[in-house]
Amino acid sequence: MVRLLLLFALCALPALVSAHLPTGKPFFIKGRVYCDTCRAGFETTATTYIAGAKVKMECKDGDTLRVKYSLEVVTNENGTYEIMVEDDHEDQICECVLVSSPVTDCKVADEGRSKASALLTGYMNGVVNRKHIVNNMGFLKDQPLPGCPELLKTYFPTDEEQ
Ligand SMILES: *[C@@H]1O[C@H](CO)[C@@H](O)[C@H](O)[C@H]1NC(C)=O
Repeated sequence: MVRLLLLFALCALPALVSAHLPTGKPFFIKGRVYCDTCRAGFETTATTYIAGAKVKMECKDGDTLRVKYSLEVVTNENGTYEIMVEDDHEDQICECVLVSSPVTDCKVADEGRSKASALLTGYMNGVVNRKHIVNNMGFLKDQPLPGCPELLKTYFPTDEEQ
């Protein structure tokens, strides 16, 4: 009997902590949205981070690829977004995509850097409230900043400089 009660207590505890949530293993996805001010295709020292950018997370069934879960979040003052995944979304493929930027001259998503994947399948087994950092996503500034050619040289030294 004691063993039964203990078992029940162990099972009931997570459910109590997250009373209104489905019985899952909540965890966090965290990433950042930036403005590629040099149109470099990657983050540079001149990169700025966008507050108020919208990011959508979509989870699809691993077999049918139908969308099972979708959520939109907005980045904070530092361009950071956090998504709490409340269910364990077993056998789902979740992906974050850029939706929009509030910066007028930095609204076009960099195709190569506009998605962040989080494969949730089998990920959370036994792990509660785990933080999962995904790759940052970026928009391209319409016109690169004046200092960009100089700056980019430091990333791609020419042959003479090597
Ligand atoms: C933004 O970054 C600053 C400096 O790192 C930090 O002190 C602040 O708490 C951050 N703001 C948020 C909302 O995370």
